[in-house]
Amino acid sequence: MGRKLLLEHDHIPGIQGYDVYRKMGGYASVEKAVKTMTPEALVEEVKKSGLRGRGGAGFPTGMKWSFLAKPEGVARYLVCNADESEPGTFKDRYLMSRIPHLLIEGMITSSFALGVHTAYIYIRGEFYYILKILEKAIEEARTNGWLGKNILGSGYDLEIYVHVGAGAYICGEETALLESLEGKRGNPRIKPPFPAVAGLYGCPTVVNNVETIASVVSIVNFGGDEYAKIGIGRSTGTKLISASGHINKPGVYEIEMGITVEDFIYSDEYCGGILNGRKLKAVVAGGSSVPILPADKILTLANGEKRLMSYESLSDGGFVSGTMLGSGGFIVMDETTSIVENLFTFARFYHHESCGQCSPCREGTAWMEKILHKILDGKGTRDDIDLLLEIQAKIEGNTICPLGDAAAWPVASAIRHFRSEFEEYVKNPNEVYAEKQIDEVFQVPINY
Ligand SMILES: Cc1cc2nc3c(=O)[nH]c(=O)nc-3n(C[C@H](O)[C@H](O)[C@H](O)COP(=O)(O)O)c2cc1C
Repeated sequence: MGRKLLLEHDHIPGIQGYDVYRKMGGYASVEKAVKTMTPEALVEEVKKSGLRGRGGAGFPTGMKWSFLAKPEGVARYLVCNADESEPGTFKDRYLMSRIPHLLIEGMITSSFALGVHTAYIYIRGEFYYILKILEKAIEEARTNGWLGKNILGSGYDLEIYVHVGAGAYICGEETALLESLEGKRGNPRIKPPFPAVAGLYGCPTVVNNVETIASVVSIVNFGGDEYAKIGIGRSTGTKLISASGHINKPGVYEIEMGITVEDFIYSDEYCGGILNGRKLKAVVAGGSSVPILPADKILTLANGEKRLMSYESLSDGGFVSGTMLGSGGFIVMDETTSIVENLFTFARFYHHESCGQCSPCREGTAWMEKILHKILDGKGTRDDIDLLLEIQAKIEGNTICPLGDAAAWPVASAIRHFRSEFEEYVKNPNEVYAEKQIDEVFQVPINY
């Protein structure tokens, strides 16, 4: 069995409530931090741990924390990104609803390290039921002296508020999130300035993912050096993976970084193999935004070695034959999957979720959806495939926030690895769709 840090007590009845959580050693990191450590020492431990942000980009957390500006007399904020809207990703929701106190504990310890006295958890609108769970946990923490004024007699004060968004993917992008938290439309900001300098209400702010903040608890408990021994290379610690698609055991798994992709897909400890004994066709390893890889490339590196579940190994081969760990949304597709249909679904999502601020993203995502619709409808041409590539290339790198890249990469990689499938649709209008009418299947009338 692999090592578990975040979900170690997941199976214990009543772990959602304070008493059981505390009995299992909960809140020890807060005690250790506020009674025996300085904020600077805590940041140092997080640096040593090698922890990288679990929200998608994998930025080193300790480094991000050390960038936080500390002007005299100006408030600082910690904002937990619990928007979790990346298709294929559902680990933060799991963690918050199963072990809410782990996030609250991580928030307190992290806030103390950053010298923050007001912290926010921003959750997406669809997670309304989690709001209730988190508010109960916050109340329990307060009743037991872990929140509020003079925590454990240390002189340190902290309040945590939960803010519910309205369910927009773009509000997961950290600066759009801050806009939304300020009560404005969730449009991403131009960077610089980065949130560490001018974030919430113009004040220095750290935005971290739920899993990142929850991981701080183990780092403080064990020490950064011990944490860094778990995992592989620069991918330290454990990672929550949301596994979905054509597998026998979909769910949220905590893996130690560095297990093989093959093991993750086929072993009974994790996904338990492909559904109905079918063959693996492709995997989207890190949420819908990352490049899709065909079976041979996701399992094996160009040098013949097995690919590992780590930041480095998954991105080995760049965008030609690699992908990204991203948010850990691991979508498995068997041999019956139509890559073109799948891409259309993704393209429709990005078009719907584009905030519309940048023309390449606003117009490009609409065009990509329309062209894919046309291809699926049996009316596409070979030129349309190249047009898709041209449009995605014009979006990539040309937008304020990475939603544009997130929309472009799946298109580029699907055509790179599965071009023949697109050509097949162009040559032979798919009979099923011709019969059923595409609008009926996808329920999205589009005129092109
Ligand atoms: C369109 C878009 C959506 C995003 N959604 C999320 C999200 O739901 N949760 C999250 O933690 N990060 C999300 N991110 C990444 C955040 O901008 C940011 O990098 C992250 O919250 C930083 O936390 P970390 O360093 O702990 O990973 C998103 C980014 C983009 C461009």
